[in-house]
Amino acid sequence: MRDQFLFLLLESRVLWPLLGSDALREAEVTCVAQARAGGRGLDKMAGSTVKVPRNFRLLEELEEGQKGVGDGTVSWGLEDDEDMTLTRWTGMIIGPPRVSTTNYENRIYSLKVECGPKYPEAPPTVRFVTKINMNGINNSNGMVDTRSIPVLAKWQNSYSIKVVLQELRRLMMSKENMKLPQPPEGQTYSN
Ligand SMILES: *[C@@H]1O[C@H](CO)[C@@H](O)[C@H](O)[C@H]1NC(C)=O
Repeated sequence: MRDQFLFLLLESRVLWPLLGSDALREAEVTCVAQARAGGRGLDKMAGSTVKVPRNFRLLEELEEGQKGVGDGTVSWGLEDDEDMTLTRWTGMIIGPPRVSTTNYENRIYSLKVECGPKYPEAPPTVRFVTKINMNGINNSNGMVDTRSIPVLAKWQNSYSIKVVLQELRRLMMSKENMKLPQPPEGQTYSN
């Protein structure tokens, strides 16, 4: 546990001020510099083989989730703050407003997002907790079908939990989903 914590400490910019000794700082700066070098080029290198260190990425996502982004229509965070493996996350989507009479208007959708050991090379698994009627979502358990959601099917390691949540929200507004009748508000899947 202590080693794991140290590892997180080394990777997290948030915790820089906590690092005391010069040795630790040096190790950490190297680690972050490497991660950065890998992370920075990603946008320009579509389909690149540069690997992003998993925990580094997830700590950045955690930090961004805590700050909140944009208009607040999607949000995310760790399910349990003590989860040192950074695996289990919760997501939230506020249904699109009545731009074109969607049935998702202002509803709050809660999701579970699991980032496995191969994340971000492999996509997360995503499940709606709040019941929803939408293409690509298993209507018996809320599982998001990886194959039918483009950002998951064509996953790239530069994508993030935010990208997935925003994409799901965008799909609620798509022609094929917009008019689907929705279950009564507030219902959740049982498993
Ligand atoms: C939905 O999930 C259940 C349980 O995992 C599975 O048996 C079923 O085949 C799934 N349905 C679809 C349409 O994928």
